[in-house]
Amino acid sequence: MKPAFFITGTDTNVGKTEAACMLARSFREAGLKVGVMKPVETGCRLLGEKMIPKDALRLKEASGTLADLDLVNPYRFTAPVAPDLAARLFGASIDLERVKDIFIGLQAAHDLMLVEGAGGLLAPAAEGKSMADLALLLGAPLLIVSANRLGTINHTLLTVSCARQMGLAVKGIILNNPVDSSNDLSAEHNRSDIERLSGVPVLFEIPWSPAMASAPILKKEEIEKLLAI
Ligand SMILES: Nc1ncnc2c1ncn2[C@@H]1O[C@H](COP(=O)(O)OP(=O)(O)O)[C@@H](O)[C@H]1O
Ligand SMILES: [Mg+2]
Repeated sequence: MKPAFFITGTDTNVGKTEAACMLARSFREAGLKVGVMKPVETGCRLLGEKMIPKDALRLKEASGTLADLDLVNPYRFTAPVAPDLAARLFGASIDLERVKDIFIGLQAAHDLMLVEGAGGLLAPAAEGKSMADLALLLGAPLLIVSANRLGTINHTLLTVSCARQMGLAVKGIILNNPVDSSNDLSAEHNRSDIERLSGVPVLFEIPWSPAMASAPILKKEEIEKLLAI
């Protein structure tokens, strides 16, 4: 079985795209052919008549995949809301089976797949289905991105608990620092508290970096650890 990871987060805007791009670049540098998907992207800007799926474009670039953008991102909408509502407002619907078929095709053409969800784990992905249902359908274990700030313990434990209840494997947590946390006392303790209380390893932290273009890539040992879990 080829490795696949479903990158979810404790919320929207916590750093899922940053983490997924960092992973994509790291695996690519390690010589792997990296496939990526952002199955549904909402809040797309319009350039003329064309919708611009920002996350999908970043993932595509970071991974170096030659796959068509319409496969990386089969559904896109302008409304800045959860996927199911964005589709309904547009008079459309999202077919998760179609997403799965595309995923299987991309998986066959790459060594490893990274899929970025939208919002958090229970965000509505399609009619009556959540992002968790999509991860289950794809058979991809989770990487949970959490923002290292006050409140993250609750958000992270809720996400882990929901994943376990739904029978989803959680491979690890990525602790991102999307803001300068030097004045946040919790930020020094969140990593160890999350590991102790959830029993899930924090795989790595992403430092706060106002110029994210220079985000570090993972070391060889970290990549090997991720592929072995
Ligand atoms: N470690 C970081 N340092 C600086 N800015 C960050 C960092 N992580 C995320 N950001 C910024 O925070 C915003 C949300 O990150 P993003 O990865 O798009 O979140 P999500 O994919 O979960 O919605 C973006 O503007 C991003 O550039
Ligand atoms: Mg994103």
